[in-house]
Amino acid sequence: MKNIVVLVSGGGTNLQALIDAQKRGDIKGGRITCVISSKADAYALERAKQNDIPTRVLVRKDYADVHEYSKAMLDALNEEKADLVVYAGFMTILDETVCRAYPNKMINVHPALIPSFCGKGFYGLHVHEAVLEKGVKVTGATVHFVTEVCDGGPIILQDTVPVKNGDTPEILQRRVMENVEWKILPKAVSLFCQDKIHVENGIAVVDE
Ligand code: GAR
Repeated sequence: MKNIVVLVSGGGTNLQALIDAQKRGDIKGGRITCVISSKADAYALERAKQNDIPTRVLVRKDYADVHEYSKAMLDALNEEKADLVVYAGFMTILDETVCRAYPNKMINVHPALIPSFCGKGFYGLHVHEAVLEKGVKVTGATVHFVTEVCDGGPIILQDTVPVKNGDTPEILQRRVMENVEWKILPKAVSLFCQDKIHVENGIAVVDE
């Protein structure tokens, strides 16, 4: 069984989707062994505790700079013997030492169709605000490997939802989460844990 460590910063609905999938037996070959939060009051921590999953809190301002923080995160991941690290709404920047230590072993869910609406400044509701400002008619979410390039790693899974007249960022966020994120993140985690994702020449090839 692979050890899955989930990194969170907020409400943790994607963590909940992973926990629910695990309970249904839909995460094959792995189990969530630790949740690490960058915020002490993240509701995601409650979700972990309610499901008897060990938690850790690593708050950015407790460390002098991004490098000290990244070292603490790397130490925690190593101590937890992580086989897979999942960014599930994790909003704190880590330096390149972390993704270099876990090449093609860290995945992120991003609430848009990469390469659109991604990169620096595109996180959480801001992504959906930008989608509505541009007037695109289709959006979605992406699960990808984490590399040194922000939101630039190999794409594992994507799916789409329509953008509708009258959408607010909140309504669109909910549609993207319910219809895409909460489905493709557990699916990608299960595929990873069954060794069904391989990266060839920078492209993720998925055996479904
Ligand atoms: C999710 O929509 C996730 O895709 C997004 O933040 C939200 C977290 O919600 N992540 C990013 O924007 C990362 N760039 P959650 O805490 O309820 O899972």
